[in-house]
Amino acid sequence: MKLENPWKQNPWFESVAVAQERARKHLPQPVYGALVAGSERGQSSADNQAAFAELGLAPHVVGQLPERSQATTVFGHTIGSPVIISPTGVQAVHPDGEVAVARAAAARGTIMSLSNFASKSVEEVTATGATTFFQMYWTGDRDTMIQRMTRAHAAGAQGLIATLDWSFSMGRDWGSPEIPERVDLKAMIRLAPKVATKGRWLWQFGQQFRETGKLPDLTAPNLAPPGGEAPTFFGAYYEWMTTPPPSWEDVGWMRETWAQISGTPFVLKGVCRVDDALRAVDAGVAGISISNHGGNNLDGTPAAIRMVRPIAEAVGEQIDVVMDGGVRRGSDVVKALALGAKAVLIGRAYLWGLAANGQAGVENVLDVLSGGVDSALRGLALSSTAELRPEHLLIPDGFDRALGVPEQAAAGR
Ligand SMILES: Cc1cc2nc3c(=O)[nH]c(=O)nc-3n(C[C@H](O)[C@H](O)[C@H](O)COP(=O)(O)O)c2cc1C
Repeated sequence: MKLENPWKQNPWFESVAVAQERARKHLPQPVYGALVAGSERGQSSADNQAAFAELGLAPHVVGQLPERSQATTVFGHTIGSPVIISPTGVQAVHPDGEVAVARAAAARGTIMSLSNFASKSVEEVTATGATTFFQMYWTGDRDTMIQRMTRAHAAGAQGLIATLDWSFSMGRDWGSPEIPERVDLKAMIRLAPKVATKGRWLWQFGQQFRETGKLPDLTAPNLAPPGGEAPTFFGAYYEWMTTPPPSWEDVGWMRETWAQISGTPFVLKGVCRVDDALRAVDAGVAGISISNHGGNNLDGTPAAIRMVRPIAEAVGEQIDVVMDGGVRRGSDVVKALALGAKAVLIGRAYLWGLAANGQAGVENVLDVLSGGVDSALRGLALSSTAELRPEHLLIPDGFDRALGVPEQAAAGR
């Protein structure tokens, strides 16, 4: 048997932190800044990661098991590792964008979620063969939403994620990166000092330009009207901002409409409160993602991981509960599962990988995470992620944040 150097398994980076550092060096500052994101003072974004570090593990020294399984069935799909690609509407990270991410998801047998603000079309992404869930915000009128759902279904999307948590909080204490309305010559000249030093990034997009005549696309092709042109990112954002916020009746309508169009799962992303989770069950969703949008939304929302146990205890028997926010290593995945999540979604982690090395970089990130899950299972002497329970963790007092527990809400009135 040939002896392989185990550190060579992930030849580009051995942790998500290293991938992030590669991305920072590689990307022009405004593009990197858009990935770091966060809102206001950055409290929720920081807590998403810090909270994972408050949780400990208690490993066994003997009795570990030689074979360990990470397979899980979530939203009707069996995936080899409980890590799903979260939708991110990010542009200009890599010329292959979401297509590269989808190829990596397909190669590693997980679910790809595609943002309606993505730079690649749902048709291009499903053509990779990845199991694709299409994500929609509540934007446009009902007829427009039906048209977008119909298109996603026709393209082969196998689930719909409705992200309804966005509250249009603008402004960051560290300043927001400039994103041009269009990457035309004027914008190129203005941004030149920030991109001029990023040789490989420029070269990658230069190659795209030579092959296709196209500069990085800051448009949202999935929001194009039938036969019409894709709106710019800002045009799409304006439509979203000016759409009246949805009611629970609207959520029910969206779920029902998607069921009629596609018959595949409907997932509500952005749930933070027990009462909202219960209402989501009433609205007939297949699952929820407990999330504060990676800390990019209403700052001061607790870390997603702090909200997992109370919500999973309330609705985890009835629907699939997943979480996202702050997952950077396999042990984070294990902690989320032990607290009651069926799987996790990752955002920035795969974006760092994409920036650092395209499809292979995303695969590398997925491998780093599944390798970490496997190590944690081994240390905990478990044969499967399905066995994970809160008692496998060291949980400090007061760790959980149970928001909107109905009795508490009533008592507080
Ligand atoms: C740059 C960026 C863009 C995002 N765009 C979207 C989006 O278009 N739709 C959506 O549902 N969530 C979006 N999210 C949120 C992610 O899906 C996910 O909730 C979050 O990134 C999880 O936190 P993590 O980045 O710490 O893993 C975005 C997140 C980031 C960082």
